[in-house]
Amino acid sequence: MPDLFSPFTLKDVTLRNRIVMSPMTMYRSTEGRVDDYHVMLLGARAAGGFGLVFPEQIAITPDGRTGVHCAGLWDDSQIEGLARVTRIIREMGGVPAIQLGHTGRKGSEKLPWEGKTQLPPEHPDGWPVRAPSALPYGGRYPYPVHALTVAEIHDLHRAYAAAARRAHAAGFEWLEMHFAHGYLGASFFSPLANQRTDDYGGSLDKRLRFHREALDAVRAAWPERLPLTMRLGSDDFHPDGVQFDDAVWAVAELRRHGLDLADLSLGMNTDDVRDLPFREQGFMVERAARVRRAVGIPVGVSWNLAVPQIANAAIAEGKIDLVFLGRAALANPHWPFWAARELGHPDPLALLPEDWTWWLRNRPGPEGVLGWPAVGGAP
Ligand SMILES: Cc1cc2nc3c(=O)[nH]c(=O)nc-3n(C[C@H](O)[C@H](O)[C@H](O)COP(=O)(O)O)c2cc1C
Repeated sequence: MPDLFSPFTLKDVTLRNRIVMSPMTMYRSTEGRVDDYHVMLLGARAAGGFGLVFPEQIAITPDGRTGVHCAGLWDDSQIEGLARVTRIIREMGGVPAIQLGHTGRKGSEKLPWEGKTQLPPEHPDGWPVRAPSALPYGGRYPYPVHALTVAEIHDLHRAYAAAARRAHAAGFEWLEMHFAHGYLGASFFSPLANQRTDDYGGSLDKRLRFHREALDAVRAAWPERLPLTMRLGSDDFHPDGVQFDDAVWAVAELRRHGLDLADLSLGMNTDDVRDLPFREQGFMVERAARVRRAVGIPVGVSWNLAVPQIANAAIAEGKIDLVFLGRAALANPHWPFWAARELGHPDPLALLPEDWTWWLRNRPGPEGVLGWPAVGGAP
């Protein structure tokens, strides 16, 4: 059985281990372009041993950003910054992955530490938001929503494909579509957000049409030999929203359209959630395992997997293929190295770059590495 540190191959890409830095929006971009900050953040996580490294969600259009300081790939001028990111990740032994998305009716946000509420469309840093139906999310997101026309939906699919081509030009080797967390894709899938009466709403099959067409468009623009995956809003935790059974069916459908792996996450189409086990360790693991068994597709999950023993067991018991770490990756850029120590890996230093480990093996100092007993080599 594989464990957290076993390589993982999907299509022509092999990850050195099963540990993924999950996409995390950092609000540090100017005009959608990433810069030194992102090279620092992501290069450090690759050096710390993460096998697959995602920058934040990258918007396919300007109005697909969470806020005005978020990154995008709607213009060729945004390729170079991301190419710097992919180069440093690869140089540090990681595989660079991109998450393409559109925030839909949850866009036009203030910075989280300034309130994480929506800015009105007339604000200089805000914009009118678009979604399947003219239904505001409510609460923190109160402003009117433009219901997308079919022509606009097709434009968005073209924007997905164009961003995928730019992502390939920037050197990414793995592409995830962000269709979770109440953003555009998630809102097409959820009856709480999608009340259309045309071919893009109503039945479960019609609510998945946006996904199928977006996936087809991206698959045609993205090399067949590289992984194409989706973060799916798989449960709204609300009686009238997406149920997990819907997601099991959807993943099987999407697999027929070229999906290589499913990253099962939350719907987040309402704040009125019921029975969401938000504080439980690894609460998406059993759900993802069900998809893996039922559909026969590799799966990954995030949510509360920062305890190495729990993350490792999820892989070793054959429940999931990849562990996505969000907050733990922010807290500890060397989480994989630290987890290797915690789990009794025979050579934790192998998780770090070789040009560091010569010193750590051969000159660890009297207290050993990080105050631990010396690991490997003579003190
Ligand atoms: C600061 C921050 C920003 C995030 N931004 C994104 C994002 O851009 N795309 C996404 O799919 N999830 C985003 N998430 C969710 C994480 O990727 C992850 O799924 C979530 O934090 C649960 O994993 P964890 O328990 O390891 O933190 C974000 C989370 C945090 C903490």
